[in-house]
Amino acid sequence: MTAHQKMDKADTRNRLDDMVQGLVGKPMDRPDGPLKVSGRATYAHEWDVPDMAYGVLVRATIAKGRVSDVASSEIVGKNGVRAVITDDRLLRRPAQGTADAAPPQGARQVDYFGQPIALVVADSFEQARHGANVLKIRYAADGNAAFDPEAEDTDRERPEDDQLDQGDLDRAMQDAAFTVDQVYRTPGHNSAAMEPHCAIASWDGDKLTLRGSYQMLNFNINELADALQIVPEHIRMLSPYVGGGFGSKLGISPEAVSAALAAKEIGQPVCVALSRPQVFETTMRRSETRQHVRLSCDEQGVLTGIGHECLVSNLPGEDFYEPVTQATHFLYGGKHRKLGIEVARINRTCGGSVRAPGEAVGMQVMENALDELAEAAGIDPVELRKRNVPDRHPEQDIPYSSRRFVEALDEGAKRFGWDKRNRTPGSLREGDWLVGHGMAGAARVNILSEAKARVTLLADGHAVVETDMTDIGTGTYAILTQIAGDMLGLPADRVETRLGDSDLPRGPGSGGSWGASSAGSAVFLACEEIRRAIAKMLGTDEAKLRLAEGNAGTGDTARPITAILDGQDLSAIGHIEPGQTLEEMQQATYGSYFAEVAVNAVTGETRVRRMLGVFGAGRILNQKTATSQCYGGMIWGIGSALTEELVFDDRDGHIVNNDLAEYHIPVNLDVPQIDVVLLEERDEWASPLQSKGIGELGICGAAAAVTNAIYNATGIRVRDYPATLDKLLAGLPDA
Ligand code: MOS
Repeated sequence: MTAHQKMDKADTRNRLDDMVQGLVGKPMDRPDGPLKVSGRATYAHEWDVPDMAYGVLVRATIAKGRVSDVASSEIVGKNGVRAVITDDRLLRRPAQGTADAAPPQGARQVDYFGQPIALVVADSFEQARHGANVLKIRYAADGNAAFDPEAEDTDRERPEDDQLDQGDLDRAMQDAAFTVDQVYRTPGHNSAAMEPHCAIASWDGDKLTLRGSYQMLNFNINELADALQIVPEHIRMLSPYVGGGFGSKLGISPEAVSAALAAKEIGQPVCVALSRPQVFETTMRRSETRQHVRLSCDEQGVLTGIGHECLVSNLPGEDFYEPVTQATHFLYGGKHRKLGIEVARINRTCGGSVRAPGEAVGMQVMENALDELAEAAGIDPVELRKRNVPDRHPEQDIPYSSRRFVEALDEGAKRFGWDKRNRTPGSLREGDWLVGHGMAGAARVNILSEAKARVTLLADGHAVVETDMTDIGTGTYAILTQIAGDMLGLPADRVETRLGDSDLPRGPGSGGSWGASSAGSAVFLACEEIRRAIAKMLGTDEAKLRLAEGNAGTGDTARPITAILDGQDLSAIGHIEPGQTLEEMQQATYGSYFAEVAVNAVTGETRVRRMLGVFGAGRILNQKTATSQCYGGMIWGIGSALTEELVFDDRDGHIVNNDLAEYHIPVNLDVPQIDVVLLEERDEWASPLQSKGIGELGICGAAAAVTNAIYNATGIRVRDYPATLDKLLAGLPDA
């Protein structure tokens, strides 16, 4: 049995609201939680594969040029070293995640410092690491590398699809009552997932099994097939537990390809684990950005124009670029618009998707600029935003699907006590601490992705949900269990969800915040099909069917589902496809942030004292896991505002702070009580579940609330992120 739905029109049935088991929406604990906290969930490095050898990557110590010699013969056969893999197919850059391809970048061509050029394989990890350390590489260096995206002589391109020139912004700026015209900068970021990347490859003839840590197996097996030049049908990838991804595991990275090549060459399984510095240097970075923002408004603060012209960077030949203006296109009105992205081609670690590519940095800056405009116009920042919410998409003239932006602003202001905030920058002092309040808006595009899932209702009254979808810490195991439990009328402990195996029906993968809605819709459709089969067995309409606590019936009569099934299993595949509703409606999620900070008047140290986020993301599938996603996003917002920054060496482009000692993500003491409020919402255009993506929403603008609060505390605008102490010192009263 297969049930298929394409979202070509709104699904107004809101069926989940009628289900009586009552699981969806509840803060249900993760079924995988006990396994994880007791160390019984198998992560990529923990598989017990017999007879395994170990590989350690050797990486380029020049930024650009060619490898002219690898002295493999000096180390092979000694100290346990079995082989040095220099195969042309060895992946030189990570794959981008949705392209279904991972072409090798050309034999021996070096494009950035830290690029993998060989793999040393040995009987033990320590022997492999030693071999990698002593292996001699000779290069023919090309002195023509580029490291500075803003330098005059750096090559830059303007992707055609991302240039908008509507009306006459220059004129709007001249005629405006109030304007902002500023340049902001955000630094590069690393995903910094807790679990470093790892792959274990084993071959059985021409069939490859790869155990690893990946976000999107549906694309990842195609990438791996492309890289190895084999067919995807010969690959099985297993990724049941993933210790965080944030974009760094959207595509396969060098460990996957090198492990597969090595295992083939030596004829036994090979494990390749990346060290933390290797994660920094050979997986994705978020591009640094330079953002030129121009805003013009009338006396009432109504925007007449928006300019958002951005410079980002990536390696030569990479299609991906940080889509900085993504939310700027639809969030606020203003007739005259100039939005553009320019890509500098530089020799630094590959740029790619990092949590909320586009909005994470674009909203961060745009919400600072709105704060500056509010001050210039003498209008409350919350009010200014409300005055600029357009009726229809300001460029495409299409309607919005559900949008609770104004409600999020109002609810946030009320709960935070915005009316009692400090209004004069630099005027609220408690001893050595300057106290300030700031707010920002949140917005992130919503996407539905094609997905399949199989649901089987077993004769014994249990159900099994199967898809190659992953759970990267987001709560997939929980929410798919909840959806199936509700639809089939089973308590959660009678539903088992199996994920992370590429042999299972193709899910959407975990990326772009689309996982829960897309995989969940596929499960929902499969369950609807099973409900129809049960209804038929009972001689009734599916719509009249009442399933709860393992019983099935209509009206007052109910019988155990096991009695109805009478020994037979019911299995169905659900298949969801995105359709016209993605084109015809602007679909996005919205929210607001409010923050209170204290800045030390002597040292410039900033402490975030409290932070509130209010979000609308359609139906919330699990209150607890959705809230946790928002915590995570907002904590990263604190990091973006205050500490996180990739530092590159000017001479060779290498990452100087390539570990978690020097790349400063917020720790417990940096994070205050965070309050998250999820608004009640249904989006009938988004999916049959009426849910939208929430995984990335919490970071989209969060940093701006913190830096706007720093301005309110000190009167200092930091436009060059992060707002570290040194950037505040000169402007502080007691410094
Ligand atoms: Mo996300 S950056 O699509 O994991």
